[in-house]
Amino acid sequence: MTVLVAGATGTVGGEVVRRLAALGADVRAGARDPGRAAAGLPPGVPPVRLDLEDPASWPVALEGVDALFLLRPPEVARASRLQPFLDAVVAAGVRRVVVLSVQAAGRNPLLPHRALEERVEATGLAWTHLRPANFFQNLLTVHREEIRDRSRISVPAGNGRTAHVDVRDLAEVAAAALTGPGHEGRAYELTAREAPTFAEIAATLSAVLGRPVVYPRPGIVAFAREKRAQGVAPGLVLVMTLLFTTTRLGLAGRTTGDLARLLGREPTTLRRFVEDHADAWRTPEGAGA
Ligand SMILES: NC(=O)c1ccc[n+]([C@@H]2O[C@H](COP(=O)([O-])OP(=O)(O)OC[C@H]3O[C@@H](n4cnc5c(N)ncnc54)[C@H](OP(=O)(O)O)[C@@H]3O)[C@@H](O)[C@H]2O)c1
Repeated sequence: MTVLVAGATGTVGGEVVRRLAALGADVRAGARDPGRAAAGLPPGVPPVRLDLEDPASWPVALEGVDALFLLRPPEVARASRLQPFLDAVVAAGVRRVVVLSVQAAGRNPLLPHRALEERVEATGLAWTHLRPANFFQNLLTVHREEIRDRSRISVPAGNGRTAHVDVRDLAEVAAAALTGPGHEGRAYELTAREAPTFAEIAATLSAVLGRPVVYPRPGIVAFAREKRAQGVAPGLVLVMTLLFTTTRLGLAGRTTGDLARLLGREPTTLRRFVEDHADAWRTPEGAGA
């Protein structure tokens, strides 16, 4: 069985590739620039050019593929732009699609992730929707420099709780759904057991790193001003403030037992995640301490 992973250079796609390779699966890593992607791949995993919006890249990437891991790239705002690719997936004889969606997709029909889910369901292929909470890995990407260099994590989340998931756990479920039976027609809401506040996240970082990491609790307006001053695009600032408004309103903290059930063990905790990656927030000089 051959599995094609779209977005293989990304946070989730990269982890799904690693997991599939560790299981000995026949995996192909889809990337817009396969030359650049090759260095980060596990030994024996071939990169293949795959741009979900470039039909020229599809025949080679899809040839002989049985199962597809599909995401809505952050740059693709409208799911309709992925319909031609889905048509090619069907024509190529792919049998199974695992969709990287988002936790709220089951309750918010306006999300582009839900629109993509609906389009995949309409293909008639066997589908599985993965609806993950906020990634713990955001602490390693969007928040990394601020934590490492300034010992702070500044988001306008108030005292709201945010459900999280470790992408390594998410990839374990994705690999199972791509290669094994029993997941067809299922949508999984994937969260760790705990939904920490950002004050709790800062406290955990402080305890593990051995230096204070503060959560200054900015308001929405102060946060938006700060991001604009840092040169973040207005559209992205708007999306971030909307997201954190739902957190402030207490709408982002829902946890489920899906992940523990699928893994057959407890999901990774915040504390464990921070311990596993502590070096990422340390500097040689102990900056910010
Ligand atoms: N961050 C969170 O907390 C969170 C939580 C739940 C759900 N999600 C969802 O997860 C998805 C993002 O996953 P991620 O964090 O793994 O993304 P990511 O790290 O930002 O990587 C995006 C990937 O998409 C690829 N890509 C971009 N445009 C493409 C195109 N036209 N064709 C093919 N590939 C393309 C990029 O590949 P190149 O190398 O070609 O650039 C890259 O591999 C989004 O749908 C997001 O809403 C995120």
